[in-house]
Amino acid sequence: MTTPVIAIDGTAASGKGTLARRLARQLGYAYLDTGLLYRATGFMTLSLYPDTDEITEEMAITAVNAITAATMENSALRDEEVTQRASKVAAMPAVRTALIEQQRNFAKNPPESAAGAVLDGRDIGTVICPDADHKIYVDADVEVRATRRVKELLERGDEAIHARVLQDMRERDARDSSRSVAPLVAADDAFIMDTTKMDADAAFTTALEFISKRNQSKA
Ligand code: DC
Repeated sequence: MTTPVIAIDGTAASGKGTLARRLARQLGYAYLDTGLLYRATGFMTLSLYPDTDEITEEMAITAVNAITAATMENSALRDEEVTQRASKVAAMPAVRTALIEQQRNFAKNPPESAAGAVLDGRDIGTVICPDADHKIYVDADVEVRATRRVKELLERGDEAIHARVLQDMRERDARDSSRSVAPLVAADDAFIMDTTKMDADAAFTTALEFISKRNQSKA
């Protein structure tokens, strides 16, 4: 028997992280935020090569290899500078390849013998776990996503200007969707959720209903 896997992909600030975390808690599954791996890589390039914006794949791979458990917990991973750099290193094929195994291992052997795994990211249902039991793709209007991100930043005590956040988000969406490897795209068999008019509770209920119905139809 293989461990059940739920793949959640989608755009930034679409609510996919909150949804993934809540589903994992509800089902007793382990949760992996795969964006953190790209953020940690971006963060490491900033600390190893502070004087340049010209990051080569080789430098990015050195950064991947320098990631430690402490890096993954660093609150700076959410900083805007790291966010933008993460999106740049995530477009590098060698970086994506270097991070595949870790993600697939998590899905196959979730930590602490959890009954299953929930992974969220951009390419989970298409590349990392194409055989996932359930695939959900989450999106929302970019203006609404920017407003959510501004709220998040202000709650963290960071400065946030809506127009700037919106522009950064559009740039990041474009980069994540147009890159040649593993671009952000919904898997053909994904359940598409538009959370523009949904709060976190509504998104959770909708997703759980989709999973339960599919489980019943497969039983
Ligand atoms: O989900 P996030 O905002 O924390 O992701 C950070 C960056 O990493 C984002 O620009 C997209 C990229 N990413 C990716 O390319 N593939 C993933 N599976 C997860 C994130």
